[in-house]
Amino acid sequence: MRIALSTGGGDAPGLNAVIRTAVLSALHRGWDVLGIKRGFAGLLGEDEVIPMTRETVRGIGHLGGTILRTTNRGSPFHYPVLQPDGTYQYIDRSDELIENARNLGIDAIISIGGDGSLRIAQQLVARGMKVVCVPKTIDNDVPCTVNTFGFDTAVSTAIDAIDKLHTTAESHDRVMVLEVMGREAGFIALYAGVAASADVVLIPEISFDIEKVCEKIRARDRGGRLFSIVVVAEGAAAVGGAESIIGESLPGQARRLGGLCEPLAKEIQRRTGKETRSLILGHLQRGGQPTGYDRLLSARFGGAAVRAVEEQKWGHMLALQSPHIVTVPIEDVLRSEKRVDPDGDVVRTARESGISFGD
Ligand code: F6P
Repeated sequence: MRIALSTGGGDAPGLNAVIRTAVLSALHRGWDVLGIKRGFAGLLGEDEVIPMTRETVRGIGHLGGTILRTTNRGSPFHYPVLQPDGTYQYIDRSDELIENARNLGIDAIISIGGDGSLRIAQQLVARGMKVVCVPKTIDNDVPCTVNTFGFDTAVSTAIDAIDKLHTTAESHDRVMVLEVMGREAGFIALYAGVAASADVVLIPEISFDIEKVCEKIRARDRGGRLFSIVVVAEGAAAVGGAESIIGESLPGQARRLGGLCEPLAKEIQRRTGKETRSLILGHLQRGGQPTGYDRLLSARFGGAAVRAVEEQKWGHMLALQSPHIVTVPIEDVLRSEKRVDPDGDVVRTARESGISFGD
């Protein structure tokens, strides 16, 4: 048996731990392992395909990033090719990919990635390739699994930032607005906000009214708490649309990293008269060493992926359904959506401990 591993989409702490465990588990069975570099680019002749040995994965379990590198470049079924005029033309390169995999004697692929990688895997399986998937995103919004690796690390990074912002905010009687990742889902903002005692948490799943945010800040002031911490997910939704916060000059920009943070801080300052500062945590959340929880989850996914290959679970994704790691058909994953439950216990706990969602 010869398997190949690939990592695609944005990186997440824990990728190397998945790679390490999958390689060791496969070698343990006497299989050959290849590493496809930079998503599927290695199978399109745009990067390498390398042999994976004990040496290759030695000492990487605790490291962030991915030794196989990654890319957001797109699907082999819709591959961007730069034209002389600077525009992109999209072509289907799947035949080439399948042919190259066959020439390399690859029997099965373990694809570690987010929803883009899941879609590619589903299409490859439809073309007869043998693929199993490991879910990956720091945003934790892949359905059917309790958690994805990288999420716990991102939350820890955000908690650390909020703790630090607390002391400086309190010293200066300021409002601090911290933007964390989460384009579609507010898990990082919510979990970090609750764990680090933020005052306001703004997430895509609960539309916020800027005036209610300001009212919370004023109420804290009246109670003698002269500082406030506002945690905002990059995709947070304002009542009346993002334009109501960020002004006419930037329509449509808010649901992007860094789009909302500064305009929101300025508007809070304008309405409350309180000195306000903003910080975009950005890619710090994706970097660095995975937490112990993420290392273990990644290791479990890596081992389970090799068992899924052994069991011929083509077109399936590994999922944590506590306490077990199970396999779920990719089509079930792609058919569902995972978002913060506005009536769930974490939101209720947040509300009952005084956190405002600005609604
Ligand atoms: O992994 C998803 C994510 O964390 C989003 O929350 C964020 O918008 C995105 O990555 C940014 O990634 P990049 O800069 O690599 O496009």
